[in-house]
Amino acid sequence: MSLNPEKAILSTRPELFDFHGVSMTHYFTDNWENVQNFQARPDDILIATYPKAGTTWVSQILDLLYFGQTCPERHNNIPIYERVPFLEIAIPSLDLGYQSVISLWLCYHVTCFPYQRFPYSMFTPHAGKDLADKLPTTPRLIKTHFPVQFVPKSFWEQNCRIVYVARNAKDNMVSYFHFDRMNVVEPEAGEWNNYFHRFLEGQMVFGSWYEHVRGWWEKKQSCSNILYLFYEDLIEDTEQELVRICSFLGLSPTTELKKQVTEKVQFDNMKNNKMVNGSADEVFDLKISPFMRKGRVGDWKNHFTVQQDEQFNEDYKKKMKNTDLQFRTVL
Ligand code: A3P
Repeated sequence: MSLNPEKAILSTRPELFDFHGVSMTHYFTDNWENVQNFQARPDDILIATYPKAGTTWVSQILDLLYFGQTCPERHNNIPIYERVPFLEIAIPSLDLGYQSVISLWLCYHVTCFPYQRFPYSMFTPHAGKDLADKLPTTPRLIKTHFPVQFVPKSFWEQNCRIVYVARNAKDNMVSYFHFDRMNVVEPEAGEWNNYFHRFLEGQMVFGSWYEHVRGWWEKKQSCSNILYLFYEDLIEDTEQELVRICSFLGLSPTTELKKQVTEKVQFDNMKNNKMVNGSADEVFDLKISPFMRKGRVGDWKNHFTVQQDEQFNEDYKKKMKNTDLQFRTVL
């Protein structure tokens, strides 16, 4: 019988639970204490998003801007999750030792105990925080999906610059749905109509989209270290957004570098790059859905029924009243 530790560990999809008022799964809370004690440095740059808002896109842009000239092959050789570690993730490593594999196999197949019931310390975890700690580059680029209130305090104490990306809720929901279908460390996506309601209720990993985008927007009003970007602006004029990013980060790239970055981060080029298209990621089943899926504004129209659209719009107006945060392509 062949033993596939990857499947043994990850074949049970995680469950959502309430964590300080936010829906989370254990993969993003198991390492909570360590993550909260993360020691940021003043030149660290945090890329913060609600999942599926364009995190990988902006991560690739920043990585190329900083290191594209000194290490031109880096983006073809090193997976994005190593160049830009995901701070709060902690999943079992796939490099399990011989003994761990045996005990895991016994636990899973003989006792039918799901992995979650076993002490976390039993496994060598892949913890984004450890990767971030060890990043050899300066500045360190670090990714998070945390709502603003979960960000470790050292990022604020050190006045780190933070690039936040928001995406309109409808496309964000659709993208998240397909992601949850193919990602074994996410809860089951289930059927679309049910997913639609879960999204409106904030029953998603990292909680409510509405609270996430609003929380970060409000923080930005009192914190000049946050650049708030929109996915739709990046789609409409990548070059112009690149200029905004550079100005925020105090970078003056040559015309040639700007041209190269703009070219390399085009959707089709990223879709063909194994270091960003999900091919290097063990927990994705790309046969179910590609990670670089469509990369468009308005794909929600292929998913929402007329009734869902009406229900969404009514609910949206209620949740987004009393804020000047505007998404231009929503209603
Ligand atoms: P779709 O599922 O709508 O295609 P994240 O990196 O936060 O997980 O976001 C993934 C989403 O961003 C996916 O959306 C993906 O296709 C899109 N995306 C990634 N790179 C992109 C690019 N260069 N241009 C446009 N969209 C991009």
